[in-house]
Amino acid sequence: MRKPIIAGNWKMNKTHEEAVSFIEDIKEKVPAGSKVDTVVCAPALFLKSMNDASEGSDVAVGAQTMHFEDNGAFTGEISPEALADLSIPYVIIGHSERREMFNETDDSVNKKLHAAFNHKLVPIMCCGETLEERESDKTESVVRGQVEKGFAGLSKEQAAQVVVAYEPIWAIGTGKSSTAKDANETCGTIRRILSELYDQETAEAVRIQYGGSVKPENIGGYMAMEHIDGALVGGASLKPDAFLQLVEAGS
Ligand code: G3P
Repeated sequence: MRKPIIAGNWKMNKTHEEAVSFIEDIKEKVPAGSKVDTVVCAPALFLKSMNDASEGSDVAVGAQTMHFEDNGAFTGEISPEALADLSIPYVIIGHSERREMFNETDDSVNKKLHAAFNHKLVPIMCCGETLEERESDKTESVVRGQVEKGFAGLSKEQAAQVVVAYEPIWAIGTGKSSTAKDANETCGTIRRILSELYDQETAEAVRIQYGGSVKPENIGGYMAMEHIDGALVGGASLKPDAFLQLVEAGS
């Protein structure tokens, strides 16, 4: 059985004080040994304090991106080595906003997945199609390309540990969420692609999240689906109460 994973992606929001008090607010309410993995992906500047604040609880912290090189002349970048040094367990890789606005490619996503494993970070790899691609029936070929190129060179053992976040771009921050049925269909396609790349056992082990206008009112529909093992949530993850409701729904 796959353990559900609910992850917040705060994007470029909150102050340091707000970030730490969010963790303090929720940590007692997410008991150790809970049935769901609870992750908050926050701006890099807050990660150390948030990680310290979450100690002893079942709340984990994640970065929203990183470079694939360990160190070097990459002004402004976040190194996997630094994340590992701070014991940050998760990192989002290849979010569509990074692909669109910061020139991330399937090739850099692939290098980042390898870097994550080199530093024992759990990668949450995002994929998903634009509205135009969906309307021209290209959803499968788009996610196939992203998954095949993203996973290139990963061993079975590594592949099984990747969390895939299927986020149709047209559903991000728009309030227009995918229906649970459609989201499940594409998550099932992703699982099939993984079984072709590896084998059925590996594909069954991979946790696949849906992301795109998920909120407490609609998460139940997604969590009831066969191929959806959690959610990657933007806007609705910013308030402790709403985030806790999402975690609750994931259990
Ligand atoms: O990574 C989460 C995200 O892109 C979805 O954002 O605000 O639609 O939940 P939102």
